[in-house]
Amino acid sequence: MRITVLSGAGISAESGVPTFRDDATGLWAKYDPYELSSTDGWQTHPERVWAWYLWRHHLVATVEPNNGHRAVAAWQDYADVAVITQNVDDLHERAGSKPVHHLHGSLSEFWCDTCGARYHAPLPDMPEPELEKMPPSCECGGLIRPGIVWFGEQLPDGPWRAAVEAVATADVLVVVGTSGIVYPAAGLPEVALARGTIVVEVNPQPTPLSENATLTIRESATTALPTLLLQLPALLEN
Ligand code: APR
Repeated sequence: MRITVLSGAGISAESGVPTFRDDATGLWAKYDPYELSSTDGWQTHPERVWAWYLWRHHLVATVEPNNGHRAVAAWQDYADVAVITQNVDDLHERAGSKPVHHLHGSLSEFWCDTCGARYHAPLPDMPEPELEKMPPSCECGGLIRPGIVWFGEQLPDGPWRAAVEAVATADVLVVVGTSGIVYPAAGLPEVALARGTIVVEVNPQPTPLSENATLTIRESATTALPTLLLQLPALLEN
């Protein structure tokens, strides 16, 4: 059996990484979250965007994969599993999943916004959140930016192709912890449903996918995923 997982911020929430929208209630509440995750925001306030990502970089390094990530990795003992994630953390990898296709980039990659050169120097730690920090400069004079796909940017070609392929070949698509409103990732479950693939949604809250999914499980990732594989045949019969 081939299982493809499409994950979003919700799967990492129980590890202590705030979801995209939860974060808006914290230190950065006064900023529009789109401004912190967009090319426009970077051009007008790189010091805000850099501080936001440096803090998230620190946060992710201090948390651990949870039983949701671990369950997905454990499925590899029984099935052919591919993970597509919108998350920029590495918690799926640290739980042992392979391959993991990062549609929205990675918090551990940085490059120059002008010449594109990779940046490998150690980053300053940010143990407490700060609202502003100027990014380092590249030799060419450009600014070092996070390797994240912002609003207004194209998804990386390789991961996107791999994701489309993983959906096209899946027997079951498990969609976990995503609000399902950010395209093109949100279109992948639609593609699977159109092909007649079983789509199981795991999310404590309803989403635009809920109505159409083959099965919706209104539970958190750490509750639902560890028993999902065993329960799947029975759940699909009901
Ligand atoms: N288990 C499962 N789902 C959860 C949990 C949990 N413990 N906690 C929250 N959720 C669900 C929420 O109900 C919500 O539907 O996770 C979803 C998180 O939604 P978003 O914060 O919108 O995250 P995501 O869907 O990953 O966002 C997509 O938007 O800005 C971007 O690029 C960013 O990759 C991100 C994209």
